[in-house]
Amino acid sequence: MYEVFNTEFRHCFAMPNSNTMTIKPIKEFTENWINFVTCKNNLPLGKAVIVDPFAKDCKLGTITNDLNTECDTDYHMRAEDFLDKLIDEGIEADVVIYDPPYSPRQISECYKAVGIQTTQQDTQASFYTKIKQRIREIVKVDGYVLSFGWNSMGVGKEGFRYEEIMLVTHGGAHNDTICVAQRRIPQLLSDMDSDDKLLEDEECQLTLSI
Ligand SMILES: C[S@@+](CC[C@H](N)C(=O)[O-])C[C@H]1O[C@@H](n2cnc3c(N)ncnc32)[C@H](O)[C@@H]1O
Repeated sequence: MYEVFNTEFRHCFAMPNSNTMTIKPIKEFTENWINFVTCKNNLPLGKAVIVDPFAKDCKLGTITNDLNTECDTDYHMRAEDFLDKLIDEGIEADVVIYDPPYSPRQISECYKAVGIQTTQQDTQASFYTKIKQRIREIVKVDGYVLSFGWNSMGVGKEGFRYEEIMLVTHGGAHNDTICVAQRRIPQLLSDMDSDDKLLEDEECQLTLSI
């Protein structure tokens, strides 16, 4: 038994960069979806609420966060706490940009850069699950989540529709970047998908490496 989605698919080539939004097709992918949501919701230009919990130096978000204090963002909190704060304040996002570290190794490197000791919890699947759960909560019905990483899971399929997947090949031995646009559909959200639940239950240690 499997599900088939009617998702738009694109494929392109671009040089890799750790500042994701400096990669031209990825920046365009993000800007196109932000413009689409702004037009669709009849919002004045620049008035969409765009939440970016892992912004680094990217300026596409209107509420930005990065753990690293050297990044020019509104907040420097753990993404989980940042999203909890916005949820408590009743913020609803038109778009969420979800561009976390792509592997446990990248998580450790980010934490080392800010002088935080990485715990086992930080490199478990639950790191992603906790953040995805909050993103699912904060995005409006008909709002969009734009996810970037090494898998196409986005924030899960329950309660969301895959609108576009763009595969960016970087060449050499680099992993591709998989860009996913998902729309929150008007349906009650379960906490998370069964796949994520499984990972969470097993407290599965991710074994991906760079
Ligand atoms: C893939 S990079 C983001 C790149 C950025 N979106 C861009 O376009 O340049 C991931 C970022 O997440 C930050 N980060 C890592 N762990 C975090 C956490 N738990 N909470 C918030 N930010 C975190 C890192 O400092 C890093 O800048």
